[in-house]
Amino acid sequence: MRIGLLGCGIVGSGVYDIITDKMSPMVKNFEIAKVLVKTPEEITKPEMTNNAEEIFSDKTIDTVVEAMGGIHPAYEFITRALNSQKNVVTANKAVVAKYIDEFTALAKANNVVFLYEASVGGGVPWIKALRQAMRIDEVTHISGVFNGTTNLILSEMEEKGLSFDECLNTARRMGYAEADPTADIDGIDVRNKLIISTSLAVGKKVLAEEIMTYGIRGVAECDFEYFKSLNKHLRLFAESVIDEDMYCCRIEPTLFDVDAPEAGIKLNYNICSLYGRTIGTLKYIGQGAGKFPTANAIVQDLIDIDTKNTTLPEVSFDKNAKCEMTMLQGRYYVRYSAQCAQKIEDAFRGINFTKVPVNGAVAFVTEQIPTITIHDRIESAGVDLSDVFVARM
Ligand code: HSE
Repeated sequence: MRIGLLGCGIVGSGVYDIITDKMSPMVKNFEIAKVLVKTPEEITKPEMTNNAEEIFSDKTIDTVVEAMGGIHPAYEFITRALNSQKNVVTANKAVVAKYIDEFTALAKANNVVFLYEASVGGGVPWIKALRQAMRIDEVTHISGVFNGTTNLILSEMEEKGLSFDECLNTARRMGYAEADPTADIDGIDVRNKLIISTSLAVGKKVLAEEIMTYGIRGVAECDFEYFKSLNKHLRLFAESVIDEDMYCCRIEPTLFDVDAPEAGIKLNYNICSLYGRTIGTLKYIGQGAGKFPTANAIVQDLIDIDTKNTTLPEVSFDKNAKCEMTMLQGRYYVRYSAQCAQKIEDAFRGINFTKVPVNGAVAFVTEQIPTITIHDRIESAGVDLSDVFVARM
């Protein structure tokens, strides 16, 4: 296999190392023919170039690994590679979430393979597990902790009492955070991963605006104090339910009892779960972010292409299914500052809630309500989202 590697940052350099250091006998015939870097100044090895055309026009390169991230020029490069009859392997959840249907169709039309195992769950072999489960079952529930950066922030704030910024800096230093960590903190990265997973299970590309999303931006020490008194752990949890031609998806900080598997997921670890009628619940745990776990997933895809182990069922994303936002419910913890108390409490009129003791702020827990209702009410309150923190109990 002759590989064109697009991007040699954290993940790309991991792929480069596994292949060139021959860390596995399975890669002994793999060669990194060209590596695309952004600028001439970054060229430090003979195979490096800053001209992408050198990769697409090289007929001896059969497979392209995209490890640049972002939508542009990743979209153009993936399209170009597939149209040049090259297999494509990517870790780029943002571009896969947006174009999974188009890339899949393009790969089929060009008789090449498009794989994206590393895009969800880092080193966890989740996409393969999901596609394998779908050989027998309709997957009716997908859930998990899909972001290492926010998981590190929540687990370290909770366990060691460290500040949000300290934990975020660690995640950046370790190479877990996105170039713009807003995508991690506000749940956008998780949303891309839930789009990919749910689109496969539903058989239709799920849209970003269909996913009810809260991130962890507003979380504070006082929240952890209260959750500790309940003996619960907070995780940024993604979930989809699928019922034949209907689906509903949400991402929100969620509380788990200490003995729940999700409560034990710490640092950059992810947990990815599915439910199917005959298999029941399956849960996969592993490092969801970081150089080698993510590179490992990319190289696994390369090995699958090389050994022609690419026979899992294809999804054509043409199912006629619809998002039904009221399918998911919960009891919600809402914490806010005294300044916006009136607006919040007015917005929740008609919903039963109980005030709870939280140091230096006001908070309540609602009765069971549809998840869409919490989004509607918070939005109608018109308060700054940094002044309010919402978690599902
Ligand atoms: N920023 C992502 C995370 C990287 O923290 O999980 C892996 O997708």
